[in-house]
Amino acid sequence: MNQYTNAVQTNDLTRHFGEFVAVDRVNFYIPKGEIFGLLGPNGAGKTTTIRMLCGIIKPTNGSGTVLGYDIRKESEAIKKRIGYMSQRFSLYDDLTALENIHFYAAVYGVPAGERKRRVDDLIDQAGLRGYEKELTHNLSGAWRQRLALACAIAHKPPMLFLDEATAGVDPVSRREFWDLIYQMAGEGISILATTHYMDEAEYCNTIGMMYQSQLVALASPDRLKDELPGTLIQITCSDPLRAEQIADQVSGVIDSAIHGVRLHVAIRDEKVLPQLKKALAQAEIKIFDMETILPSLEDVFISMVEERLQKQVNQASGG
Ligand SMILES: Nc1ncnc2c1ncn2[C@@H]1O[C@H](COP(=O)(O)OP(=O)(O)OP(=O)(O)O)[C@@H](O)[C@H]1O
Ligand SMILES: [Mg+2]
Repeated sequence: MNQYTNAVQTNDLTRHFGEFVAVDRVNFYIPKGEIFGLLGPNGAGKTTTIRMLCGIIKPTNGSGTVLGYDIRKESEAIKKRIGYMSQRFSLYDDLTALENIHFYAAVYGVPAGERKRRVDDLIDQAGLRGYEKELTHNLSGAWRQRLALACAIAHKPPMLFLDEATAGVDPVSRREFWDLIYQMAGEGISILATTHYMDEAEYCNTIGMMYQSQLVALASPDRLKDELPGTLIQITCSDPLRAEQIADQVSGVIDSAIHGVRLHVAIRDEKVLPQLKKALAQAEIKIFDMETILPSLEDVFISMVEERLQKQVNQASGG
Protein backbone atom coordinates (compact mmCIF):
# COMPACT_ATOMS: atom_id res chain seq x y z
CA MET A 1 0.00 0.00 0.00
CA ASN A 2 1.10 3.50 -0.84
CA GLN A 3 2.20 5.85 1.91
CA TYR A 4 -0.05 8.86 2.14
CA THR A 5 -0.99 11.59 4.62
CA ASN A 6 -4.01 12.85 2.76
CA ALA A 7 -6.51 10.35 1.41
CA VAL A 8 -7.47 12.88 -1.23
CA GLN A 9 -5.56 15.85 -2.55
CA THR A 10 -6.58 17.93 -5.53
CA ASN A 11 -4.69 20.64 -7.36
CA ASP A 12 -6.81 22.90 -9.59
CA LEU A 13 -8.98 19.94 -10.54
CA THR A 14 -10.95 20.86 -13.65
CA ARG A 15 -13.33 19.09 -15.99
CA HIS A 16 -14.88 20.41 -19.18
CA PHE A 17 -17.73 18.85 -21.15
CA GLY A 18 -17.25 20.51 -24.51
CA GLU A 19 -17.48 24.25 -23.86
CA PHE A 20 -19.06 23.76 -20.45
CA VAL A 21 -16.85 23.77 -17.36
CA ALA A 22 -18.44 21.36 -14.85
CA VAL A 23 -15.60 21.52 -12.29
CA ASP A 24 -13.41 24.61 -12.21
CA ARG A 25 -10.01 24.63 -10.46
CA VAL A 26 -11.08 22.85 -7.30
CA ASN A 27 -8.55 22.52 -4.46
CA PHE A 28 -9.03 20.57 -1.26
CA TYR A 29 -7.60 17.69 0.70
CA ILE A 30 -8.94 15.05 3.05
CA PRO A 31 -6.66 13.93 5.90
CA LYS A 32 -6.69 10.19 6.53
CA GLY A 33 -9.67 9.12 8.67
CA GLU A 34 -11.65 12.31 8.16
CA ILE A 35 -15.12 12.84 6.78
CA PHE A 36 -15.32 15.48 4.08
CA GLY A 37 -18.72 16.74 2.96
CA LEU A 38 -19.21 18.19 -0.48
CA LEU A 39 -22.32 20.37 -0.55
CA GLY A 40 -23.87 22.40 -3.30
CA PRO A 41 -27.02 22.89 -5.33
CA ASN A 42 -28.01 20.57 -8.17
CA GLY A 43 -25.56 20.72 -11.02
CA ALA A 44 -22.78 22.32 -8.92
CA GLY A 45 -20.23 19.70 -10.00
CA LYS A 46 -20.12 17.36 -7.00
CA THR A 47 -20.66 14.07 -8.83
CA THR A 48 -18.27 15.10 -11.59
CA THR A 49 -15.60 15.78 -8.93
CA ILE A 50 -16.20 12.34 -7.39
CA ARG A 51 -16.10 10.62 -10.77
CA MET A 52 -12.68 12.15 -11.45
CA LEU A 53 -11.38 11.09 -8.05
CA CYS A 54 -12.66 7.54 -8.53
CA GLY A 55 -10.85 7.31 -11.87
CA ILE A 56 -14.09 6.99 -13.88
CA ILE A 57 -13.45 10.13 -15.95
CA LYS A 58 -10.23 12.05 -16.53
CA PRO A 59 -9.68 15.66 -15.52
CA THR A 60 -9.33 18.15 -18.37
CA ASN A 61 -6.84 20.17 -16.34
CA GLY A 62 -5.28 20.01 -12.92
CA SER A 63 -4.41 16.92 -10.96
CA GLY A 64 -5.15 14.92 -7.87
CA THR A 65 -4.27 11.91 -5.80
CA VAL A 66 -6.41 9.34 -3.98
CA LEU A 67 -4.66 7.19 -1.38
CA GLY A 68 -1.43 8.55 -2.81
CA TYR A 69 -2.21 7.35 -6.36
CA ASP A 70 -2.36 9.74 -9.29
CA ILE A 71 -5.93 10.04 -10.59
CA ARG A 72 -4.71 10.45 -14.17
CA LYS A 73 -2.12 7.69 -14.34
CA GLU A 74 -3.12 5.20 -11.66
CA SER A 75 -6.90 5.02 -11.92
CA GLU A 76 -6.88 1.20 -11.91
CA ALA A 77 -5.00 1.11 -8.59
CA ILE A 78 -7.51 3.60 -7.18
CA LYS A 79 -10.61 1.70 -8.38
CA LYS A 80 -9.43 -1.45 -6.60
CA ARG A 81 -8.92 0.34 -3.30
CA ILE A 82 -11.96 2.54 -2.92
CA GLY A 83 -15.61 2.01 -2.15
CA TYR A 84 -18.11 4.02 -4.17
CA MET A 85 -21.76 4.23 -3.35
CA SER A 86 -24.16 6.38 -5.28
CA GLN A 87 -27.92 6.77 -5.24
CA ARG A 88 -28.11 4.53 -8.26
CA PHE A 89 -26.00 1.83 -6.69
CA SER A 90 -26.86 -1.37 -8.55
CA LEU A 91 -28.02 -4.23 -6.40
CA TYR A 92 -29.34 -7.38 -7.97
CA ASP A 93 -33.01 -7.51 -7.09
CA ASP A 94 -33.44 -11.22 -7.76
CA LEU A 95 -30.57 -12.17 -5.44
CA THR A 96 -30.85 -12.33 -1.66
CA ALA A 97 -29.04 -9.79 0.50
CA LEU A 98 -26.39 -12.38 1.30
CA GLU A 99 -25.91 -13.29 -2.38
CA ASN A 100 -25.47 -9.65 -3.31
CA ILE A 101 -22.69 -9.18 -0.76
CA HIS A 102 -21.05 -12.43 -1.91
CA PHE A 103 -21.22 -11.23 -5.49
CA TYR A 104 -19.58 -7.87 -4.73
CA ALA A 105 -16.95 -9.50 -2.51
CA ALA A 106 -16.00 -11.67 -5.50
CA VAL A 107 -16.01 -8.71 -7.93
CA TYR A 108 -13.79 -6.72 -5.57
CA GLY A 109 -11.34 -9.59 -5.36
CA VAL A 110 -11.84 -10.79 -1.78
CA PRO A 111 -10.00 -14.18 -1.87
CA ALA A 112 -12.44 -17.13 -2.05
CA GLY A 113 -11.13 -18.59 1.21
CA GLU A 114 -11.84 -15.39 3.15
CA ARG A 115 -15.12 -14.50 1.52
CA LYS A 116 -17.51 -16.38 3.79
CA ARG A 117 -16.03 -14.86 6.93
CA ARG A 118 -15.90 -11.38 5.44
CA VAL A 119 -19.51 -11.54 4.25
CA ASP A 120 -20.57 -12.70 7.69
CA ASP A 121 -18.79 -9.73 9.29
CA LEU A 122 -20.42 -7.35 6.82
CA ILE A 123 -23.88 -8.67 7.68
CA ASP A 124 -23.21 -7.76 11.32
CA GLN A 125 -21.50 -4.47 10.56
CA ALA A 126 -24.36 -3.25 8.38
CA GLY A 127 -26.95 -4.53 10.85
CA LEU A 128 -28.44 -6.90 8.29
CA ARG A 129 -28.61 -9.96 10.53
CA GLY A 130 -32.01 -11.61 10.06
CA TYR A 131 -32.37 -10.20 6.54
CA GLU A 132 -29.66 -12.30 4.86
CA LYS A 133 -32.07 -14.58 3.01
CA GLU A 134 -34.51 -11.85 2.03
CA LEU A 135 -34.79 -11.20 -1.69
CA THR A 136 -33.34 -7.77 -2.38
CA HIS A 137 -36.45 -6.48 -4.14
CA ASN A 138 -38.43 -7.11 -0.92
CA LEU A 139 -36.14 -4.85 1.13
CA SER A 140 -37.29 -1.33 1.99
CA GLY A 141 -35.24 1.74 1.05
CA ALA A 142 -33.29 1.91 4.29
CA TRP A 143 -32.35 -1.78 4.20
CA ARG A 144 -31.30 -1.54 0.57
CA GLN A 145 -29.07 1.36 1.56
CA ARG A 146 -27.39 -0.70 4.27
CA LEU A 147 -26.99 -3.58 1.86
CA ALA A 148 -25.46 -1.27 -0.75
CA LEU A 149 -23.00 0.00 1.87
CA ALA A 150 -22.04 -3.56 2.84
CA CYS A 151 -21.41 -4.32 -0.86
CA ALA A 152 -19.39 -1.12 -1.36
CA ILE A 153 -17.05 -1.96 1.52
CA ALA A 154 -16.78 -5.71 0.86
CA HIS A 155 -13.04 -5.36 0.11
CA LYS A 156 -12.32 -3.18 3.19
CA PRO A 157 -11.50 -0.04 1.21
CA PRO A 158 -9.51 2.61 3.12
CA MET A 159 -11.45 5.32 1.25
CA LEU A 160 -15.17 5.56 0.71
CA PHE A 161 -17.07 7.86 -1.64
CA LEU A 162 -20.74 8.38 -0.81
CA ASP A 163 -22.67 10.29 -3.45
CA GLU A 164 -26.10 11.10 -2.02
CA ALA A 165 -26.03 7.67 -0.47
CA THR A 166 -29.00 8.36 1.80
CA ALA A 167 -31.30 10.15 -0.63
CA GLY A 168 -34.91 9.22 0.04
CA VAL A 169 -34.19 7.40 3.30
CA ASP A 170 -36.15 8.28 6.47
CA PRO A 171 -34.45 10.41 9.17
CA VAL A 172 -34.00 7.63 11.76
CA SER A 173 -32.46 5.26 9.22
CA ARG A 174 -30.23 8.05 7.92
CA ARG A 175 -28.95 8.65 11.43
CA GLU A 176 -28.23 4.94 11.88
CA PHE A 177 -26.47 4.91 8.53
CA TRP A 178 -24.30 7.84 9.64
CA ASP A 179 -23.51 6.06 12.89
CA LEU A 180 -21.97 3.35 10.71
CA ILE A 181 -20.06 5.93 8.69
CA TYR A 182 -18.76 7.57 11.85
CA GLN A 183 -17.65 4.23 13.18
CA MET A 184 -15.77 3.58 9.95
CA ALA A 185 -14.02 6.96 10.14
CA GLY A 186 -13.02 6.04 13.69
CA GLU A 187 -11.32 2.98 12.27
CA GLY A 188 -9.22 5.17 9.98
CA ILE A 189 -11.34 5.02 6.83
CA SER A 190 -11.46 8.31 4.93
CA ILE A 191 -14.80 9.42 3.60
CA LEU A 192 -16.01 11.88 1.01
CA ALA A 193 -19.77 12.34 1.07
CA THR A 194 -22.19 14.51 -0.87
CA THR A 195 -25.60 15.18 0.56
CA HIS A 196 -28.50 17.58 0.35
CA TYR A 197 -29.39 16.90 3.99
CA MET A 198 -27.87 19.55 6.22
CA ASP A 199 -28.15 17.40 9.35
CA GLU A 200 -25.78 14.95 7.67
CA ALA A 201 -23.37 17.72 6.76
CA GLU A 202 -23.02 18.41 10.50
CA TYR A 203 -21.29 15.03 10.83
CA CYS A 204 -18.41 16.11 8.58
CA ASN A 205 -15.01 17.30 9.80
CA THR A 206 -14.71 19.65 6.86
CA ILE A 207 -17.20 20.95 4.35
CA GLY A 208 -16.55 22.10 0.84
CA MET A 209 -19.34 24.19 -0.66
CA MET A 210 -19.55 24.02 -4.43
CA TYR A 211 -21.42 26.53 -6.50
CA GLN A 212 -21.50 26.65 -10.29
CA SER A 213 -18.47 24.40 -10.68
CA GLN A 214 -16.30 26.19 -8.12
CA LEU A 215 -15.42 25.49 -4.52
CA VAL A 216 -16.61 28.67 -2.82
CA ALA A 217 -16.12 27.78 0.85
CA LEU A 218 -14.00 25.28 2.70
CA ALA A 219 -14.06 24.96 6.50
CA SER A 220 -15.44 22.98 9.44
CA PRO A 221 -19.22 23.24 10.01
CA ASP A 222 -18.66 25.40 13.12
CA ARG A 223 -16.31 27.75 11.37
CA LEU A 224 -18.69 28.17 8.42
CA LYS A 225 -21.44 29.14 10.86
CA ASP A 226 -19.16 31.51 12.79
CA GLU A 227 -18.18 33.26 9.59
CA LEU A 228 -21.75 34.00 8.59
CA PRO A 229 -21.95 37.80 8.81
CA GLY A 230 -24.34 39.62 11.15
CA THR A 231 -26.88 38.41 13.69
CA LEU A 232 -29.54 35.89 12.82
CA ILE A 233 -33.14 36.50 13.89
CA GLN A 234 -35.85 33.87 13.73
CA ILE A 235 -39.36 35.23 13.31
CA THR A 236 -42.65 33.39 13.64
CA CYS A 237 -45.31 35.55 12.04
CA SER A 238 -48.62 35.63 10.20
CA ASP A 239 -47.41 35.78 6.60
CA PRO A 240 -43.79 34.63 6.32
CA LEU A 241 -43.69 34.88 2.51
CA ARG A 242 -44.71 38.53 2.49
CA ALA A 243 -42.63 39.20 5.61
CA GLU A 244 -39.57 37.99 3.72
CA GLN A 245 -40.15 40.48 0.91
CA ILE A 246 -40.62 43.29 3.43
CA ALA A 247 -37.58 42.35 5.50
CA ASP A 248 -35.42 42.42 2.37
CA GLN A 249 -36.32 46.11 1.86
CA VAL A 250 -35.17 47.14 5.36
CA SER A 251 -31.78 48.81 5.42
CA GLY A 252 -29.28 46.74 7.43
CA VAL A 253 -30.90 43.42 6.52
CA ILE A 254 -28.23 41.22 4.94
CA ASP A 255 -30.62 38.58 3.72
CA SER A 256 -33.69 36.61 4.69
CA ALA A 257 -35.00 33.15 3.96
CA ILE A 258 -38.01 31.00 4.79
CA HIS A 259 -37.30 27.95 6.94
CA GLY A 260 -40.46 25.88 7.14
CA VAL A 261 -43.09 28.16 8.71
CA ARG A 262 -40.49 30.56 10.12
CA LEU A 263 -38.47 33.36 8.67
CA HIS A 264 -34.74 33.75 9.24
CA VAL A 265 -33.41 37.27 8.81
CA ALA A 266 -29.71 38.10 9.00
CA ILE A 267 -29.24 41.67 10.18
CA ARG A 268 -26.07 43.77 10.30
CA ASP A 269 -26.45 44.35 14.06
CA GLU A 270 -29.09 44.60 16.79
CA LYS A 271 -29.75 48.25 15.92
CA VAL A 272 -31.63 47.10 12.82
CA LEU A 273 -34.27 45.32 14.94
CA PRO A 274 -36.57 48.30 15.63
CA GLN A 275 -36.72 49.18 11.92
CA LEU A 276 -37.45 45.59 11.03
CA LYS A 277 -40.28 45.40 13.58
CA LYS A 278 -41.68 48.69 12.37
CA ALA A 279 -41.67 47.65 8.72
CA LEU A 280 -43.45 44.39 9.52
CA ALA A 281 -46.01 46.19 11.71
CA GLN A 282 -46.71 48.71 8.96
CA ALA A 283 -47.44 45.85 6.59
CA GLU A 284 -49.86 44.47 9.21
CA ILE A 285 -47.86 41.31 9.73
CA LYS A 286 -48.41 39.85 13.18
CA ILE A 287 -45.23 38.78 14.94
CA PHE A 288 -45.86 35.83 17.28
CA ASP A 289 -42.24 35.32 18.24
CA MET A 290 -38.88 36.88 17.45
CA GLU A 291 -35.55 35.63 18.80
CA THR A 292 -31.84 35.67 18.10
CA ILE A 293 -30.61 32.22 17.05
CA LEU A 294 -27.32 30.59 16.13
CA PRO A 295 -27.07 29.88 12.42
CA SER A 296 -27.45 26.34 11.12
CA LEU A 297 -25.62 24.92 8.12
CA GLU A 298 -28.82 25.43 6.17
CA ASP A 299 -28.52 29.18 6.87
CA VAL A 300 -24.92 29.08 5.67
CA PHE A 301 -25.88 27.18 2.53
CA ILE A 302 -28.79 29.47 1.61
CA SER A 303 -26.77 32.58 2.35
CA MET A 304 -23.91 31.31 0.17
CA VAL A 305 -26.25 30.68 -2.77
CA GLU A 306 -28.10 33.99 -2.38
CA GLU A 307 -24.88 35.97 -2.09
CA ARG A 308 -23.55 34.46 -5.30
CA LEU A 309 -26.82 35.04 -7.13
CA GLN A 310 -26.85 38.67 -5.98
CA LYS A 311 -23.28 39.13 -7.20
CA GLN A 312 -24.28 37.84 -10.62
CA VAL A 313 -27.30 40.15 -10.74
CA ASN A 314 -25.07 43.10 -9.80
CA GLN A 315 -22.49 42.19 -12.42
CA ALA A 316 -25.16 41.76 -15.09
CA SER A 317 -26.60 45.19 -14.29
CA GLY A 318 -23.13 46.71 -14.26
CA GLY A 319 -23.33 47.50 -10.52
N1 LIG B 1 -21.21 13.54 -19.17
C1 LIG B 1 -21.62 14.81 -19.16
N2 LIG B 1 -21.75 15.51 -20.31
C2 LIG B 1 -22.16 16.81 -20.30
N3 LIG B 1 -22.45 17.49 -19.19
C3 LIG B 1 -22.34 16.86 -18.01
C4 LIG B 1 -21.92 15.49 -17.94
N4 LIG B 1 -21.92 15.12 -16.62
C5 LIG B 1 -22.30 16.21 -15.95
N5 LIG B 1 -22.56 17.24 -16.76
C6 LIG B 1 -22.99 18.60 -16.35
O1 LIG B 1 -22.08 19.08 -15.39
C7 LIG B 1 -22.76 19.83 -14.38
C8 LIG B 1 -22.41 19.27 -13.03
O2 LIG B 1 -23.03 18.01 -12.88
P1 LIG B 1 -22.86 17.11 -11.59
O3 LIG B 1 -23.59 15.86 -11.83
O4 LIG B 1 -21.42 17.02 -11.25
O5 LIG B 1 -23.59 18.01 -10.49
P2 LIG B 1 -23.95 17.65 -8.98
O6 LIG B 1 -23.36 18.73 -8.15
O7 LIG B 1 -23.57 16.27 -8.67
O8 LIG B 1 -25.54 17.85 -8.96
P3 LIG B 1 -26.68 17.01 -8.17
O9 LIG B 1 -26.76 17.64 -6.79
O10 LIG B 1 -27.92 17.32 -8.94
O11 LIG B 1 -26.31 15.58 -8.16
C9 LIG B 1 -24.24 19.74 -14.72
O12 LIG B 1 -24.62 20.92 -15.39
C10 LIG B 1 -24.33 18.55 -15.64
O13 LIG B 1 -25.39 18.68 -16.56
MG1 LIG C 1 -24.62 14.59 -8.16
